[in-house]
Amino acid sequence: MEVATVQSLLSQERVIKPPESFRQQANIRDPGIYDEAAADPAGFWARVAQQMVSWFRPWDKVLEYTPPSPGTQPPWIKWFIGGQLNACYNCVDRHTTTWRRTKAAIIWEGEPGDERVLTYQDLHRDVQKFANILKSFGVRKGDRVTIYMPMVPELAIAVLACARIGAVHSVVFGGFSAEALRDRILDSGSRLLITADGGWRRGNIVPLKRNADDALRECPDVTDVIVFHRGVLDATMVPMKEGRDHWWHRMMEKAPLDCPCEVMDSEDPLFILYTSGTTGKPKGQLHTTGGYLVGVTATHRWIFDIKDEDIYWCTADIGWVTGHSYIVYGPLSNGATVVMYEGAPDFPDRDRWWALIEKYRVNILYTTPTAIRTFMKWGESYPQRHDMSSLRLLGTVGEPINPEAWIWYYETIGGSRCPVVDTWWQTETGSILISPLPGITDLKPGSATRPFPGIFAEVVDEKGNPCPPGVQGYLVLTKPYPSMSRTIWGDPDRYVQTYWSRYPGWYFTGDAAVKDQDGYFWLLGRVDDVMNVSGHRISTMELESVLVEHPWVAEAAVIGRSDDVKGQVPVAFVTLREDAGEGGPKAVDELKQYVVRRIGAIARPADIFFTAELPKTRSGKIMRRLLRDIAEGRVLGDTTTLADPTVVQNLRQVYEERYGEGS
Ligand code: WTA
Repeated sequence: MEVATVQSLLSQERVIKPPESFRQQANIRDPGIYDEAAADPAGFWARVAQQMVSWFRPWDKVLEYTPPSPGTQPPWIKWFIGGQLNACYNCVDRHTTTWRRTKAAIIWEGEPGDERVLTYQDLHRDVQKFANILKSFGVRKGDRVTIYMPMVPELAIAVLACARIGAVHSVVFGGFSAEALRDRILDSGSRLLITADGGWRRGNIVPLKRNADDALRECPDVTDVIVFHRGVLDATMVPMKEGRDHWWHRMMEKAPLDCPCEVMDSEDPLFILYTSGTTGKPKGQLHTTGGYLVGVTATHRWIFDIKDEDIYWCTADIGWVTGHSYIVYGPLSNGATVVMYEGAPDFPDRDRWWALIEKYRVNILYTTPTAIRTFMKWGESYPQRHDMSSLRLLGTVGEPINPEAWIWYYETIGGSRCPVVDTWWQTETGSILISPLPGITDLKPGSATRPFPGIFAEVVDEKGNPCPPGVQGYLVLTKPYPSMSRTIWGDPDRYVQTYWSRYPGWYFTGDAAVKDQDGYFWLLGRVDDVMNVSGHRISTMELESVLVEHPWVAEAAVIGRSDDVKGQVPVAFVTLREDAGEGGPKAVDELKQYVVRRIGAIARPADIFFTAELPKTRSGKIMRRLLRDIAEGRVLGDTTTLADPTVVQNLRQVYEERYGEGS
């Protein structure tokens, strides 16, 4: 981000104090918690772990930690060593011995309007039965299970059933293509897949089973597939492979009711979740049981100020980390009532979310800046149709929120009554690390405010020196915390390389940030080759490697162009092979479709420019900075290192032909 932009961001003087009525009832009212945690971080986390999580056996030692460094091997990070627990027990069983047994755990609504409510007791029954089904297929502790499902309660049930028997789940977002699914199944070494006939999205069918069948053609080790019948297709229309495919409901009819929880060590793996990195290959972040559960339970309880009578709605998909941590594990561990919605925000109309809030009297809403900016664009008439006075707290995650969107959210959705918690974190961090505590933090629109108690972050320059207030640098984490990912599945060297080699001993987040004079953190976006499109991470390299596999494409470079609504959108610069012609609108369509087929709709390029050559340095490195300037219609930066300056001039011309001069 340019210096001028950072300064104008910080010059926003507006400070919003939590309303007195909120302060008085907040779960955390004493700011002393920050000093308490800083004085003895491990001791602080141990107290949290003891108060919030149920252990079968207490730990012997709180923390063993050697910062990962090149040449060293995992385990580098261990929390609550010797402690034993089960995440599913914490999220389900422990509530069934209290009054919460009859409390709603999940209030679900499908896109067509179908409704279901599952109490904790219902969840307990279904999770045990499904866990028994998994066992009947030979799934044991440590085995990986891939889950590719729509947003239905059975997705949460599948996740919790894996946790119950100690199987490591790998949930693949239902919007991913067959090929992306195949890669993740192969990388994780899963032998069992859980999927569904399909799901609903904006009135259309998402063909999950068909994608799964395509993926499985190249996954010889998958011996069994459990298919949940969501009902988007008639059961007789779903091709079921004899011996391999099994209907969920048929198996549930005869599954035994009781299934004890596996006793897990604190550091036993809980799940793998793939996220984009700076290379073409997605990284499987490995999270373990004890630390992760402590992190998500504490952050959910304190940041979302959760109360037993609250109805809480996180709009993420369980296929992303936000859904793992703040639909499933965090809220259920706290015995909360969560709303889960299957479909699109504009189906049947653009007020669907607000209708859901009114209908279920939602108290806490957690969503993304992209969604907020989309609603801003659609206008206030949609939220104004509904009574949203039940809301008392709002949250955002996934990308930097611009102050304007923050204020719109605060005023139009929250009625200027609800604190907004802007929460910064990553798939790697497992739980929220930088965020207000809504009862004590003075809010500044656009800032994620301060690190959570027990979290230590810093903004540093290239050399690792702390940046003074107002000076942009890199965000690093300087101390270990319980929910951090432990390694990359199957590739520990890459874990060290990606996060731990830039600043030895510190975790490098890949984000730029600036601290203001009050010590507030302002997140400024990624500094690596990762785009953030509507809060979803997409690697430029992954897109490039897909594009060059198209028979027409000789070379491709992809950059993220800033976008008012989505934060960033992918833009591709493509050199076609000589026999593929010059590239007109048909080629653009073909390549966009190709990306959708290969990765999924989230990665569809917003724009494709054809060029006889890509701008490169004399040593052959593609100058993405210049491509960004071109894609955003800016004056070109320094071009002196270019091997052939005419290349960008030509590209500039192509841009102007498309968008007009000076746009
Ligand atoms: C970005 C999502 C600014 C950031 C939980 C990070 C944010 C990446 C925020 C992780 C925020 C997430 N403000 N940027 N509040 N939250 N990010 O792994 O660039 O999908 O590195 O995890 O999203 O994305 P991921």
